[in-house]
Amino acid sequence: MPDRYAVIGHPVTHSQSPWIHAQFARATGQDIEYLRLEAPLDGFERTLDTFRAAGGKGANVTLPFKEAASRYCSALSARAHAARSVNTLKFDGATCYGDNTDGAGLLRDLTVNLGRALTAQCVLLLGAGGAARGVLAPLLEALPQRLVIANRTPSKAQALATEFAPMRGGTRLEACGFEALAGESFDVLINATSAGLSGGALAVPAAVFRRGALAYDMVYGRDTPFLALARASGATAYDGLGMLVEQAAESFRLWRGVRPETASVLAALRSR
Ligand code: ATR
Repeated sequence: MPDRYAVIGHPVTHSQSPWIHAQFARATGQDIEYLRLEAPLDGFERTLDTFRAAGGKGANVTLPFKEAASRYCSALSARAHAARSVNTLKFDGATCYGDNTDGAGLLRDLTVNLGRALTAQCVLLLGAGGAARGVLAPLLEALPQRLVIANRTPSKAQALATEFAPMRGGTRLEACGFEALAGESFDVLINATSAGLSGGALAVPAAVFRRGALAYDMVYGRDTPFLALARASGATAYDGLGMLVEQAAESFRLWRGVRPETASVLAALRSR
């Protein structure tokens, strides 16, 4: 029987992960099965326990269970610990190892696929929830000159900046509310708020996009108001589809010991 994996979330019907992992498995000659598992909102642990008892080897975790997954694990990678959330589980007997490949996926999409190194760049991270926390450590490791966390509720941005200050290296790490962005401008702007999911616009001034700026929305599969504003302001705008494929490749590597090639999978996904 092939080794079995799953994506677990609520809802999970539209997840692209089974398709992506099927492409990876085919390309690397790995015999795996990858399912969708929709857990009830109050039944994440129960659903995972059942999947493990039936021989499941690992899982991807998506909304709204990433924080619950970090509590479920018996061991965490350093990046999952910093993120306080887990998107990749690996089961080994009684041990459940948790990792978070979201930040690595974002960084790989930015630096390899989109060719934008962050060294010496001024970076704006919008949002201070779980998605922002999940990518902060890898963003700081990429050594931007300045990283500003801006959030609708400024105190949450400030709390994140304080927490991640020990990891900032030479980066100027700051936090603010959206109003304080007046007069500021950035080279790379990343939207980690969930505003795009509901079609909500962000109250950021159009002048935050520097000439040649790259705007990135971690949401994928839709043109968010943030991306529309970025394009109207002359920036190049990207959704989070590349991040989705790259975080999946990192999960696949953790499970199978081989990192699949991603460019063809991303191109195929874009044309689907
Ligand atoms: P996630 O796990 O997706 O990050 P979350 O932890 O609930 O979800 O965080 C949602 C983030 O999106 C927060 O930064 C939130 O801002 P607040 O902290 O002020 O609530 C932000 N957000 C959601 N809807 C928004 C909107 N319409 N405008 C601005 N920010 C929004």
